[in-house]
Amino acid sequence: MRLRHKPWAKEKIEQHPQYIVSNPEQYKGKWNEVFQNDQPLHIEVGTGKGRFITEMAKANPHINYMGIELYDSVIVAALDRLIEADLPNLRLLNVNAADLGKYFEKNDVARVYLNFSDPWPKIRHEKRRLTYKDFLTLYQNIMVDKGEIHFKTDNQGLFEYSLKSFSEYGLLLTFISLDLHNSDFEPNIMTEYEQKFSEMGNRIYRCEVKYQN
Ligand SMILES: C[S@@+](CC[C@H](N)C(=O)[O-])C[C@H]1O[C@@H](n2cnc3c(N)ncnc32)[C@H](O)[C@@H]1O
Repeated sequence: MRLRHKPWAKEKIEQHPQYIVSNPEQYKGKWNEVFQNDQPLHIEVGTGKGRFITEMAKANPHINYMGIELYDSVIVAALDRLIEADLPNLRLLNVNAADLGKYFEKNDVARVYLNFSDPWPKIRHEKRRLTYKDFLTLYQNIMVDKGEIHFKTDNQGLFEYSLKSFSEYGLLLTFISLDLHNSDFEPNIMTEYEQKFSEMGNRIYRCEVKYQN
């Protein structure tokens, strides 16, 4: 993603602690206090400008959602969406996914969405891929037993790598589409990248995998 420096982003984030949680460490193991209910929590890691997670939260009020994004200059676009939609079941976190274990503990999360994650094609950058085995351990450590990962991408190389990584980790493949937009899968909520890449004619891959414990 091309990043534009936005010097005002930090201040804007600090002005909206009701939407972008400012002290997430304090809610580890008790996110129900933030949402004020015991609904399951689904997180999108690398949420970008937040279209997917906002539309999911609108469509599924019985689920809590959290969009996690590393860059403040990107998450402010998701913040604008959330200010506009004002959804009680959606929050944002401006943190690095590598630190998820600081903010969540076992059983906090029921599902992880990975949408159009950065492919990091060079082999020396494998550890940065969000489907690398260390990330799969990280997700398992914060999820309920039999938690799920739902993954979409237009990048064939990353998709094949991820299927292999999931399989080697012992995750169970429960859904796969090698051409999502020409399948009968629905409802498909599109992400910003999905719209852009499918308009360019790229094929969209999608899978769902489940931890066995
Ligand atoms: C290619 S974009 C896709 C954005 C969105 N999911 C979509 O499909 O439109 C990947 C996003 O993941 C974020 N990201 C990458 N690594 C991350 C990490 N370790 N922690 C949090 N966010 C990360 C990037 O900053 C970027 O916004």
